[in-house]
Amino acid sequence: MAVKTKVLNANDMENIRVCADLIKSGGLVAIPTETVYGLGANALDEKAVARIFVTKGRESDNPLIAHIADIDDVKLLVGEIPEVFNALASKFWPGPLTLVMKKNDTVPDIVTAGLDTVAVRMPSHPVALELIRACGCPIAAPSANPSGKPSPTKAEHVLNDLDSKIPYILDGGDCEVGVESTVLDISGNIPQILRPGGVTFDELKTMLQDVTVYKQAETGIESESLKPRSPGMKYRHYAPKAPMTALVGKPEKTAEYIKSCLCNGKGNNIAALMFDDYALDNPNVITFGSSEDYETQAARLYDALRTFDDMAITEIYAQVPEERDLGYAVANRIKKAAGDNIITCT
Ligand code: TXA
Ligand code: MG
Repeated sequence: MAVKTKVLNANDMENIRVCADLIKSGGLVAIPTETVYGLGANALDEKAVARIFVTKGRESDNPLIAHIADIDDVKLLVGEIPEVFNALASKFWPGPLTLVMKKNDTVPDIVTAGLDTVAVRMPSHPVALELIRACGCPIAAPSANPSGKPSPTKAEHVLNDLDSKIPYILDGGDCEVGVESTVLDISGNIPQILRPGGVTFDELKTMLQDVTVYKQAETGIESESLKPRSPGMKYRHYAPKAPMTALVGKPEKTAEYIKSCLCNGKGNNIAALMFDDYALDNPNVITFGSSEDYETQAARLYDALRTFDDMAITEIYAQVPEERDLGYAVANRIKKAAGDNIITCT
């Protein structure tokens, strides 16, 4: 069923009501959050959630995040609420932190891809909160991009990707954070970061005595022999069409490397993602913030990756920021977009 996708202004309460009605009746709506746009459906409606997987072309073994608008609503989804939950939720919710906990029986298996845990997040975007409240149910929402592509941080990104596949995109402006939430598993004894994101490692450290990082969350693609803890982490992700190489090292070194690539014979077919303060003056260079401004890098990363798809190029090189603060999540996304094709420049 091809429908012309409409972009609705989220400032108009009537539009929020229209989208809530659609979600309540089993439909899909693209919704703004502070991290990235999500593709939302009633999390408790199995058939509606199945449509998310079809629309995104998502593997059925990759579970979804259920979004709630009140901390107390965690009880709708979670069987055992861990001791650390209250402290984490009161500090970081609403916000870019997803908590993985043991699920209860009301959560359909399709949401959790058959796992006995469910990922829950309370977003801070006022439109997301209003919509969830208007629906009266948790909203399951992955990022609103076709699987494998960079996540959308503007309504227009969603329209480019999903036009005619969903009826409505609720336009709540550009996403402030720009990279996805941090996924933290608190279902075991020691909290473990499954995906770095909007809440940083240091911020979590202030609240938790012990917190570990799941090895495959750090860089890349999970090995076949390891059972994936966060199934989403095993795929090449966030990727532009042209193959990309992530360049790790001091920014002056990675900039030097890019300069040598752009200056060789096939320079016209090569593009680069560079820090503002190291950028080369070349039409194939896209910038995404200065080398230590991780917030700006996060906010601009996916838009920058998307612009490469409109360029006549065959290779991309990207400067990777230092893995601190929000730079950790930015570095993670660039490495994954590169499918772990990483060069260390010294
Ligand atoms: O910021 C975000 O988290 C955005 C917005 C829309 O909220 N959502 C998002 O969803 O990034 P998605 O589906 O693109 O990524 C969800 C990640 C995947 O890596 C998935 O494998 C993991 O969370 N995940 C979901 N449920 C899980 C579970 N029960 N156990 C482990 N990992 C889980
Ligand atoms: Mg995603």
